[in-house]
Amino acid sequence: MSEILYSEAQLKKVVAELAAAIAADFMGQPVLLLGLLKGCQPFLADLCRQLSYHQVDLAVDYLQVSSYVGSASSGKVKIKQLSADEAFCRRRNVIIVDDIFDTGLTLQKVMAWLQAKGAAQVKSCVLLSKSGCNQTAIVPDYCGVEIPAAFVVGYGLDYNEKYRELPYIKVLPENEQ
Ligand code: IMP
Ligand code: MG
Repeated sequence: MSEILYSEAQLKKVVAELAAAIAADFMGQPVLLLGLLKGCQPFLADLCRQLSYHQVDLAVDYLQVSSYVGSASSGKVKIKQLSADEAFCRRRNVIIVDDIFDTGLTLQKVMAWLQAKGAAQVKSCVLLSKSGCNQTAIVPDYCGVEIPAAFVVGYGLDYNEKYRELPYIKVLPENEQ
C-alpha cells in the first residue's frame, strides 16, 4: 500500500502560503517565474493562480532540466532553454520553480546558468525539500514542506514518466521502483 504524504487539499494550502510569501517580497516588482520541466507543471500552474490573487506582475517561462534516471540522480544536470529569446532572463528578477529539492545539484547548476546569462536576481521556490540530502551550500528561498528522504511521486513528480498526473503526493514503495 502506498502512503499518501500530501493530499490535494494540503497541497493547495501549501501553495497558497508560498504565493503569499513571494507576493510579500515582490510587491510592485516584475517577476519571471522559471519552471523546471517537466516536474514543475501542476505546482507552477497552481502557484501562478495563487499569485494572481495577490496581483504580482508575472511572466512565466521554462527550462527543460533532467538528471534523474529511474529513482536515482545521475549527478549530471542537463539544461535546455525553451525561450526563443536568447536574452530572456537578462536583468530580470527570476524565481526558479521546481517540484523537489533533493541533492541541490539541479538548483545549483540552474542558478549559476542564470547568473551567467545576466539575471538581475535569482531566487528559488520548491514545493518539497528532502531532509538530509543536500550536497550543496544552497538553501531554497521559498520551500513548501520538508519531507523524509523517500522517493515520492504525483503532482508532477514521476518515476520513469509515470504518476505525474496524481493530484496528491505519495511515497513510491521500494518494491515498485
Ligand atoms: P536534485 O538535483 O538532486 O536536487 O534533484 C532535483 C530533481 O530530481 C527534481 O527536480 C526531480 O525532478 C528529481 N527528483 C528528486 N527527488 C525525487 C523524488 O523523490 N521523486 C521524483 N523526482 C525526484
Ligand atoms: Mg525536476
